[in-house]
Amino acid sequence: MIEAKSITKFFSVVNEKGLAEGLTAVLNVSLTIPDGKIVSLLGPSGCGKSTFLEILAGLQAPTDGEIHIDGKLVLEPLPSTRKEMEAYKRRYRFISPLANGVFRDRPKHDIAMIFQDYAVFPWMTALQNINFALKLRNAGAGKMARAARNERARYYLNQVGLGEQENKYPSQLSGGMRQRLALARALSVEPKIILMDEPFAAVDALTREKLQDDLLKIWEKTREGSFPVIIVMVTHDTAEAVYLSDEVIVFSPSPGSIRNRIPIDIKRPRARSDPEIIDIQERIFAMFQYDLNQESDYSI
Ligand SMILES: Nc1ncnc2c1ncn2[C@@H]1O[C@H](COP(=O)(O)OP(=O)(O)OP(=O)(O)O)[C@@H](O)[C@H]1O
Ligand SMILES: [Mg+2]
Repeated sequence: MIEAKSITKFFSVVNEKGLAEGLTAVLNVSLTIPDGKIVSLLGPSGCGKSTFLEILAGLQAPTDGEIHIDGKLVLEPLPSTRKEMEAYKRRYRFISPLANGVFRDRPKHDIAMIFQDYAVFPWMTALQNINFALKLRNAGAGKMARAARNERARYYLNQVGLGEQENKYPSQLSGGMRQRLALARALSVEPKIILMDEPFAAVDALTREKLQDDLLKIWEKTREGSFPVIIVMVTHDTAEAVYLSDEVIVFSPSPGSIRNRIPIDIKRPRARSDPEIIDIQERIFAMFQYDLNQESDYSI
């Protein structure tokens, strides 16, 4: 379970006069996401969706508020050098009643993030990309042997339909295939949470629908198995959000805060043309329209 508790993010920026100025990117966002759910974050450009997603991942610290995953506080990534470790301990010494206790108890969260630009390594083949992710995850205790890594990597490449492409480099793959590769890599570490920032924005409409269905299929499989995955997805595509999600969170324009939470209680598999789905899409459009013009031809 993910719990975001009153998350606020404040940036200092330099304005055109060269003066420092405050910018509130996310304001007081509280949200609980149970295990095995798909939640979409929808909202106008610049309303703080990516910032909020990175805070969920522990890639950015919130100015105020806390993220808990399975009841444990999310902290910034673990330090890798001794100097960083000292700084880290100093920073967190007031959080725990025991000095340095946080460091000792630091929970490990199983989160994989898919960035908008897929972020696969161009100099590695599809198979090597996944292998590398597994190697990073397995540094230290519980190392996976090379053969086991290869087997796992191939399994997930097959899952996303890239079984035949394992020796190709990202530049030899289409945009949709690269996106699948990023998905396979995220899945291969078998995370409990997958965070996706506009994952399907760069592919054509048909490929996007296929990828959405593939994602649902893989996600359904995890629900039968031992790890029901949570997916949190940022998207600009209202239809995508409604089709995929158990809940759509609509952000208000900046500073980003939750404008509406829309549960989608429609059984899967869903039909894209289902009147109920279309109706929810129209309600969301109406909200955006209202925010822009302060009027709408649809009662909200
Ligand atoms: N590191 C930063 N320093 C200063 N301002 C930032 C920083 N990162 C983001 N912002 C500002 O915070 C606000 C929210 O940005 P964010 O990227 O979260 O928006 P977004 O909702 O993801 O937008 P989009 O839909 O266009 O991707 C924007 O006004 C942005 O300029
Ligand atoms: Mg963004």
